[in-house]
Amino acid sequence: MTTQPADRTPIRSAADVNLTDWDFWARPIAEREHAFRLLRDLEVPAFYAEPELSFAPAGPGYHALVRHADIVEVSRNPEVFCSGDGGATNIVDMPAEFVEYFGSMISMDDPRHARLRRIVSRAFTPRMIKQFEADVEAAAVRIVDELLAKGPGCDFVAEVAARLPLKIICDMMGIPERDYGFVFDRSNIILGASDPEYVSDPEAIATALLTAGMDLQQLVQDLAAHRTENPTGDLTSSLVNANIDGERLTAQELGSFFILLVVAGNETTRNAISYGMRLLTLNPEQRRLWTEDFAGRTPGAVEEIVRLASPVNYMRRKVTRDHEMNGHLYRQGEKVVLYYWSANRDESVFTDPLQFDILRDPNPHLGFGGPGPHFCLGAHLARREISVMFRELLTRVPRIEAGEPEILFSSFINGTKHMTCTF
Ligand code: HEM
Repeated sequence: MTTQPADRTPIRSAADVNLTDWDFWARPIAEREHAFRLLRDLEVPAFYAEPELSFAPAGPGYHALVRHADIVEVSRNPEVFCSGDGGATNIVDMPAEFVEYFGSMISMDDPRHARLRRIVSRAFTPRMIKQFEADVEAAAVRIVDELLAKGPGCDFVAEVAARLPLKIICDMMGIPERDYGFVFDRSNIILGASDPEYVSDPEAIATALLTAGMDLQQLVQDLAAHRTENPTGDLTSSLVNANIDGERLTAQELGSFFILLVVAGNETTRNAISYGMRLLTLNPEQRRLWTEDFAGRTPGAVEEIVRLASPVNYMRRKVTRDHEMNGHLYRQGEKVVLYYWSANRDESVFTDPLQFDILRDPNPHLGFGGPGPHFCLGAHLARREISVMFRELLTRVPRIEAGEPEILFSSFINGTKHMTCTF
């Protein structure tokens, strides 16, 4: 898979790798794989300066954690490695004006995190989950009907991969179909702001992010006002009306939670589906294995797609007190960045880690985060969406193949922007 060309010197040793340098993220995937392999072999994790951004001052730097064992231990230990205090989804501390929109539970610690997670988890009642499952089936069937009607040569990302998660998140919240395009464009900006296709002027990134956040917040708050008066069975209704313990989200909490759901639930699943399609194209023997026993091999295939796709490249934590971990001292106030993409290729855990192997067992990947309080809230839904989408594709369009992907320019999301498909 390739990215846009850049003038690059070869990476010969870990000293040639700088994860803060934007040029690193323009390198082809194979070069990045090689670089992370060199970093995993280091005795002590590499330490980098923070990126220079026009809208946030750079902090003191960060340790790049690239080994599976380190990331598991950090995730398990939120009292020492916290997600708040500047945010988990960014290396540089989030400026105060961003917290309103992007400061939801993923960037909080207990007790605030536990409270929000409790309210939200209660809203996902078994009846609602059953409803989503039915919605996923119906939506995937419709997407494949329309793909067949459109014919080969179209963009797999726009016509297939992006549509399912977008529809499901919007249905869940009660956002009508006429607003899907509005939500899609804003979520592309929030996670794709570093790519010139979404924000062409680097100086305009902060404004673009804040405007997209504001737009989404307004959309859901208008809906919430309506649902407070006229509740339906959707998630917005459950979140704005008190649950059995009398708990509910405030308007600000609802807005930032919706933004989190839209970006966390949309872009990630979309990229897993696109990456999975490319993996199946490049590995016809794995496709054959899967189709021979679709139901039996689906759980393993889905985990393997998420492992190799690693749609979320990293999360960040801050050290709350001096702490020794795996032979290295981390000091209070320092930052650590957890590179899931690297952990999912750690040769001390995965045999032949670059091999796509749908029968891999066990497969303790960290694509949905490590074990701990922030483990992905939508993992069940994402697995369901990926399974059903591939069931429809592989049974109804069995000869579908993906062309060369156009990769998103981002250090945070491993994304595919466009990818032609033939069948
Ligand atoms: C393949 C698809 C997905 C991947 C790879 C993924 C990955 C992740 C990762 C790495 C985390 C962070 C864990 C941490 O900080 O320790 C996370 C958290 C989260 N994800 Fe997902 N995710 C996916 C799909 C979804 C979906 C479909 C939804 C929503 C319906 C969702 C909602 C969330 C939320 C709300 C959190 C924050 C949880 C918390 O802080 O307690 N994700 N996800």
